Amino acid sequence: MGKKVLVIGSGGREHAIVDALTRSAQVEKIYCAPGNAGIAAVAECVAIKDTDVEGLKAFAVEKGIDLTVVGPEAGLAAGVVDAFRAAGLKIFGHTKAATRIESSKEFAKQLMVKYDIPTAAYEAFDNYEEAKAYVDRTGVPTVLKYDGLAAGKGVVVAMTEQEADEALRDMLLDESFGKGRVVIEQFLEGPEFSLMCFVCGDKLYPMPVAQDHKRAYDGDKGPNTGGMGAYTCLPFITDEDMEYAMEKIMRPTAAAMVAEGCPLTGVLYGGLMKTPNGIKVIEFNARFGDPETEVVLPLISSDICDIFEAVATGVEATEPTWESLATLGIVLASKGYPGSYEKGYAIKGLEAVDGQIYHMGTAAKDGEIVTAGGRVMIVVCKAQTLAAAHAKANAEVAKIECENLFYRTDIGHKAFK
Ligand code: AMP
Ligand code: GLY
Repeated sequence: MGKKVLVIGSGGREHAIVDALTRSAQVEKIYCAPGNAGIAAVAECVAIKDTDVEGLKAFAVEKGIDLTVVGPEAGLAAGVVDAFRAAGLKIFGHTKAATRIESSKEFAKQLMVKYDIPTAAYEAFDNYEEAKAYVDRTGVPTVLKYDGLAAGKGVVVAMTEQEADEALRDMLLDESFGKGRVVIEQFLEGPEFSLMCFVCGDKLYPMPVAQDHKRAYDGDKGPNTGGMGAYTCLPFITDEDMEYAMEKIMRPTAAAMVAEGCPLTGVLYGGLMKTPNGIKVIEFNARFGDPETEVVLPLISSDICDIFEAVATGVEATEPTWESLATLGIVLASKGYPGSYEKGYAIKGLEAVDGQIYHMGTAAKDGEIVTAGGRVMIVVCKAQTLAAAHAKANAEVAKIECENLFYRTDIGHKAFK
């Protein structure tokens, strides 16, 4: 009998996870909670929210789910893994305690200082006056991070004192994100990259590195978004860089989490920066990155179920294998995003696309796919070289017709300089 797998989440990342699972020889049936209109073509979507721990658990018991994979941090922070494990259910993802490496910036920073993991110098404050005095003393540019899950909007890189002050007022006086603390960090410079590893305690299995593009428009202009595209095969990350990142950052972090009594049992995402003084951690996430996952998982050539199972059960895994090709993904977003935008526009031409299409925010309406979110879908193409993947993805994305979508044409530009 094949396995029944439940994937929790509803974005492009979960679509890519589901897609990788469809290539597994062991999987018979895939459910996705809550899923989206694209996922619905390859899995059975069930209307349970990613944070409805009791609802998810009851569903897994009822259907006899063999393995659950958690996408978003909200579910992890809500304790879905703890609840599933307590009920004897197999699940891939971190416990609530381990998820603090993402959900609490201060926890992550203290861990890095304690275990000598390279990162920017910092101090944490809950008082506006003290925070302001620190910024006055240390100067700009500076980086202000709201301590808590803020849906990617909690980081301000302040280039002027006025920007820093506005952000501090916002975070500490107006409490726009709720009552919290602010971590103030030294400003670092250099190319950023994302290194994701499957981690079970002190055992790590790295994935190919990727780079995200956070700004909305070409040339890295415009507001920050959830990610407008990503690619693999970063020419500025050498084998030595990978070795350094694994040996000085990823392995010591996993070991530190074991020592702290909250071992990792899912994905550790290192948001890293290659500075003139070495590679340093910008942030950790406790989950697959989005949109990095959409360009990384199409490359896995071993059965993804093996690594999910091994991590979920704590057994030694066989190292996953990866195709040595380049991938590049371009996100189509609703006009106006990341600000306000309209929904419900029909999307045509999808069947003409030669590449993976992962849905992020779509809905099915009268037999058509319509826009239903800020980031709507991502088109991912594979090729022998990054330049070829770039050309192909741009050609394929242009086949999609929808009057209310926009996309960047320069994904991967840092690799072509
Ligand atoms: P987010 O993914 O929303 O946490 O965005 C964080 C972004 O802010 C990173 O991708 C960096 O571009 C930038 N950032 C964070 N910390 C620093 C730092 N210490 N120095 C320079 N830029 C930073
Ligand atoms: N791509 C950044 C993130 O997943 O947070």
